Amino acid sequence: MVQEFLTRPAKVLITGVDGQIGYFLSLAAAADPFFDVIALSDKQLDISDLAAVQHQLDLHLPDYVINTTGFNAVDQVGSEQDRCYALNTQAVENLALVCGQLAVPLFHLSSDYVFDGHYQSGYTEDDEASPLGVYGDSKWRGEELLRAALPQHIILRVSWVFSTYGDNFMQRALKQAREQESIAAVDDRRGCPTSAADIARVILAMLKQIHNGAENWGTYHYCGAEVTSRYGFTEAVLAAAGQYEKLRAEQLTAISSAQQSQDAERPESSVLVCSKLLNAFGIRQIPWRHELISMIKLQYQEQEASQSA
Ligand SMILES: NC(=O)c1ccc[n+]([C@@H]2O[C@H](COP(=O)([O-])OP(=O)(O)OC[C@H]3O[C@@H](n4cnc5c(N)ncnc54)[C@H](OP(=O)(O)O)[C@@H]3O)[C@@H](O)[C@H]2O)c1
Repeated sequence: MVQEFLTRPAKVLITGVDGQIGYFLSLAAAADPFFDVIALSDKQLDISDLAAVQHQLDLHLPDYVINTTGFNAVDQVGSEQDRCYALNTQAVENLALVCGQLAVPLFHLSSDYVFDGHYQSGYTEDDEASPLGVYGDSKWRGEELLRAALPQHIILRVSWVFSTYGDNFMQRALKQAREQESIAAVDDRRGCPTSAADIARVILAMLKQIHNGAENWGTYHYCGAEVTSRYGFTEAVLAAAGQYEKLRAEQLTAISSAQQSQDAERPESSVLVCSKLLNAFGIRQIPWRHELISMIKLQYQEQEASQSA
């Protein structure tokens, strides 16, 4: 009995594994013998298709579902509002309903955009939602539908996600620094960068405790430690990448958000307070600067490997 208790793997079905969090999460889970992983990309499971969701869950009968999909292109929401709600709201309800029928808990990712960002000292899970724009509204509605449909859920709100994979602000900063002599970054919006690999660590640590009997369902915040701005983060990207290559950018200028043209409104503060996660699960924030150095190193290792292949 003890043997079975110690060795029973948790069967997890992960959606959206071609996205940056899904990619790191599925790799980390597959490398851990605690987990038996079914990793599904958007081509293998379109979560807005209720019948397909039902089919995959009936087929695999997972112990847990982790939804890492999301429509995150905040500047494109204007022209793709229906797609944004279909994925961030209705599809989350699809997953919650099917998980509910099969008594399978659902882990879901949400965003700092459920707050308008005017509260400078950081948002806790108890702060009232005030969703920002269509994207924020779609994420908040998805959260609400999940809470209503399935008590056994974890909603993990994250912010400012970066990685070696996909389109994110670390990649954009690197691209600009390689192509332009002078680059600019916004210095009056605050947030905590969070690596996709670190989010994977947090989700799997939560999952292990829940699998071993912790009943800490609910909504949690996680972000990397240390508040900065996009300017502060870009400065750190340039310093880390400068160890590996001579970047073209010689000048980095701090600008205000008013000087930057972007379609969607962005929060002034994306800072999430993470003490609930620490108190309930004992999971601490990792400094994003450490994670950034690891990610930049990985970026150059992968680049070198692909060049010599
Ligand atoms: N990125 C951030 O800074 C950030 C911040 C806060 C919260 N979050 C949340 O974290 C989660 C993951 O973010 P991420 O940065 O990893 O996103 P991502 O890299 O854009 O990945 C999302 C994945 O979902 C897939 N997808 C789209 N429509 C789908 C569908 N109908 N069925 C199944 N999969 C579908 C996408 O495929 P295609 O690429 O083919 O469309 C993509 O592979 C999202 O819930 C997001 O709201 C992200």
